[in-house]
Amino acid sequence: MNEFPVSKPPVSEKPGFLRLAKFQVYRLLKGELVTRRDVVTATAAGATGIAIERMFGFGINFSSKQVEKVVSGAVPKIEVIDARKSKQAIEKLGDYVYLTPEKLGGGTHAVDMGAGKTLAWISYWNYGDSCPISHHLAAYPSADPLKHFEFVNSTQGGDNVTIYNIPTQIKERGLLDKWGQGNHIYRVNFDGQSMNLMEDVAATTGMGLGVHTTIYPDATGFAGADGQKDICAFFDRPPEPKTSVLAAFRADWIPNDPKGNLEDNWAKGGRVRLEKLVPAKETGKFDLEGSKGNKLNWEMVPMAEYLVYTGQLPGDSPRTLTGLDAVVHHPGNKYSALILRMVSSAIIIDRKTWEPVTCLHNPEGSPDNLEIKKVSSNPDTWEVKFDDIKCVGHEAGFSPNGKIFTMMNNIKQNNMAVFDTSSPDPRKWNRFTFVKDPDWKGDFPSPFHLCFSMDGKKMFVSVLYPKPQLSGCCVVDTESWKIIAKFPNIGPDCQTMAVTYDGKYVFQIFSGFQRLSSGVFIFKQDTLEPVGYLPNFGGHHDCVIIPRKNEDLKNSRCTTL
Ligand code: CU
Ligand code: CU
Repeated sequence: MNEFPVSKPPVSEKPGFLRLAKFQVYRLLKGELVTRRDVVTATAAGATGIAIERMFGFGINFSSKQVEKVVSGAVPKIEVIDARKSKQAIEKLGDYVYLTPEKLGGGTHAVDMGAGKTLAWISYWNYGDSCPISHHLAAYPSADPLKHFEFVNSTQGGDNVTIYNIPTQIKERGLLDKWGQGNHIYRVNFDGQSMNLMEDVAATTGMGLGVHTTIYPDATGFAGADGQKDICAFFDRPPEPKTSVLAAFRADWIPNDPKGNLEDNWAKGGRVRLEKLVPAKETGKFDLEGSKGNKLNWEMVPMAEYLVYTGQLPGDSPRTLTGLDAVVHHPGNKYSALILRMVSSAIIIDRKTWEPVTCLHNPEGSPDNLEIKKVSSNPDTWEVKFDDIKCVGHEAGFSPNGKIFTMMNNIKQNNMAVFDTSSPDPRKWNRFTFVKDPDWKGDFPSPFHLCFSMDGKKMFVSVLYPKPQLSGCCVVDTESWKIIAKFPNIGPDCQTMAVTYDGKYVFQIFSGFQRLSSGVFIFKQDTLEPVGYLPNFGGHHDCVIIPRKNEDLKNSRCTTL
C-alpha cells in the first residue's frame, strides 16, 4: 500500500482490501460508475489510489500485476517552464482590476489590466500612520470595478519593520510608538477617481489584527487574524463606516511539557484552548489595538515557526503560541477554518452559531480529524488534544466547489495535506492524500500560497525560495493530486496567486518586498502557456482581482490565502 500514501484508516480494514473511505462510499452510493479512466488517472498519478480503492472496496479484484501495468502506463510528465525566458506580456487580459498591497511601500495600488495603467493608489502614512506595512487585503465584489470597489487591508507595524536588515532610524526617532504600532484594518473604497480611507476598523472596534483578511462568501463582512496575537475576529459590513465585531476568538497552546526544551513545547503534544473574546461592557470595544496582546515581538515570516521553537523569536508568551494568523471560508457560507501554524491545524467554526465543530490536523502520520470539546461557558472555551505535533503548517484554502480543503505542512514535513470536505458534517472531513515534490525538503523550497483554477481542475501553488533566489510556482492536477507543471525562476518572493474570473489567466505576483525586483508573471489557466511579465511596483505580499459578483469570491481572497 506504500505507493498509495493514503492517511491511516480510522476504522479497521479487512486484510487484502484497500480502505474504502467514507466519501468514496458516498460517491458510490450516489451511483458514480468506476470507469477505466478513473483507474488510469488515479493510478497513473500513483497518488491517492481512489479509484483502485473503490474497485477493491467494491470487490472488483485487480491483480497487483495489472495495477502496476496501469500505473507504469501513464506516469504524468511534469512540464517545466523556465519563467525567466518569458518576455513582457502583450496579450489583452480583459478589464480586470488587480489590487496589490505594497508591504514596506506603505500603501496599496490598483492596476487596470485592460488599459495597462495604474487606476488609483493610497498610502497610509498620509493619514498619520507612522509605520504602515500594507500587508494583506481582500476585496468585496463590485459590478463595475472601474467605477467603484471596496476592500479591507491589514497593516503591520512596530518592530516588524526592523527585521529586514534595513539600516533605519525609524525606532530611535519614535515612529514605532503609538501611531506606528500597526495592526490597523483599513477599509478603503475606490470612487471612480481615487482611493479613499473610509474607516480604520481597528480603531472603531478596538480589535487590531495585522495579517490575513478574507471576505465571507456572501460578501456581508470579513474575517481577520493575527499570528502574533493568536486572535481572529469576524466583522460585519455596514453601509456606514461603523464596522462591528460579530465574534472573536483567541487560541492558546497548553503544552504537555511546559518546562522542557522549547522545541518539545509543541513536539510533545498538548492542548489548543480556544476562547471566545468579549468586548468591554463600558465601551463595547476590545482593548487590542496596536501591539496590545502580542505574544511575539514580531511576526512569523514564512518558515519562522522554526525561530519560535528555537528561541530566536522572543516575546511575552512564545510558549502559548498557536500561530492563528488566518481564516478561510468554505464556499457553502457556513463554516470557516481558523488556521493554526504552530500545530498545523485548522479549527472549523460554524458562523451561524459561533461554535467550533472540529479540528483538522495536517501532518502525515497524525490523526486527521480531532474532537473539540467545550470546557467552560464563562467565557465560552473549547479544547483540542494533540498527542504530538509532527510539523508546523501555514497557508490553506478550500476548492471553489467546497469539496476540498488543503493546508501546507512545512519544515519537518514539506507537503500539502488534502482533505475531502464534501460531507455536510465537518467531523467527517478526512485527509485522503498529500501533494508532494521531491524538491520540497527542509525549510526551502516550500509550498506557500495556493489558488484554484475557475473550473477547479487545477490547483496553483507558489513555491518559495529565500531571497535573493527566485521563487516559482507549480500546477497540481486535482484529480490525481500530482504536480503536472512547474514554473521555476519567476522572481524573488512569489506570494499569493489570483485567477481571472473568465477562466483565462493566472497571475503570480512576485514582490521582492525587500527592495528587489517585483512584478507579476502571467500564464494561461487551461494550456499553462506562459503569457509573460508585467511590471507591478511596490513590495507585494498579497493580490486580489476585484470580483464582480459573489460567485467570483469562490476563487478569490475568501476561500484561499
Ligand atoms: Cu500567513
Ligand atoms: Cu503575510
